[in-house]
Amino acid sequence: MDAVAKASYTTEDRIGVLEELLNERYSVRAFLPQEVPRETIEHILKVAQRTASWCNSQPWQVLIASGEAKEKFRKAIYAEAASGAKDDHDFTPPREYLGVYLERRRESGFQLYNTLGITRGDKMAYAKQALENYNFFGAPHVAVIHTDEPLGIYGAVDCGAYVSNFMLAAQALGLGTIPQAALARHSGLIRRHFNLADDRRVVCGISFGYADHAHKVNSYRTSRASVADTVTFIDE
Ligand SMILES: Cc1cc2nc3c(=O)[nH]c(=O)nc-3n(C[C@H](O)[C@H](O)[C@H](O)COP(=O)(O)O)c2cc1C
Repeated sequence: MDAVAKASYTTEDRIGVLEELLNERYSVRAFLPQEVPRETIEHILKVAQRTASWCNSQPWQVLIASGEAKEKFRKAIYAEAASGAKDDHDFTPPREYLGVYLERRRESGFQLYNTLGITRGDKMAYAKQALENYNFFGAPHVAVIHTDEPLGIYGAVDCGAYVSNFMLAAQALGLGTIPQAALARHSGLIRRHFNLADDRRVVCGISFGYADHAHKVNSYRTSRASVADTVTFIDE
């Protein structure tokens, strides 16, 4: 019997639920302080653990800081980010956003700033909002996703798939999440703070908890390009 024949839901229900979760999910930038029960977090982790990876290497390692540990980490990374410390990425960040990528970046940035009432070009206000990354947007939990140096970029690719599955599982359980490359900007500090071995490479963070639905920052949704803009079918 194949996997589809064994399934307990109809095909329509299965794709319906997946589409609903993907359509509902958005990056949450204001959380309620209430902590998530450990068994709910463990449920997310169990689901996300099924992520596919090259050679089934499963190269994601996940550190989850909550309570006092989250507070100590928040203070340390906020202080470093606010001090204007230079970029300390393990993986080279984008060199430049050009053409359509620049347009999409601008569109989503302006959506954020307009929602918050930040005037275009107000660099001080942009910087202040960017620093909120290091307060984890008020989330009670922050996960740091790190991988193994010898796996190079593919270790990071597999971690990206893990991050997506983590976010969808959290969405299904009524939580909000935000993936954060901003944390990886301070990879050295993260390694030192959590005593990670030298061969660990920080991919990104995920702040998570219950979304503050009343906060205006959570009120807008980003757009997506059409499938036609993305896919080329080649049939002959
Ligand atoms: C790998 C990754 C890293 C991201 N890093 C950040 C970040 O550091 N700070 C932030 O505010 N948003 C971050 N985002 C969120 C994106 O801006 C967001 O996913 C995108 O604008 C689409 O919006 P949506 O998630 O609400 O659908 C990141 C997203 C991904 C996938």
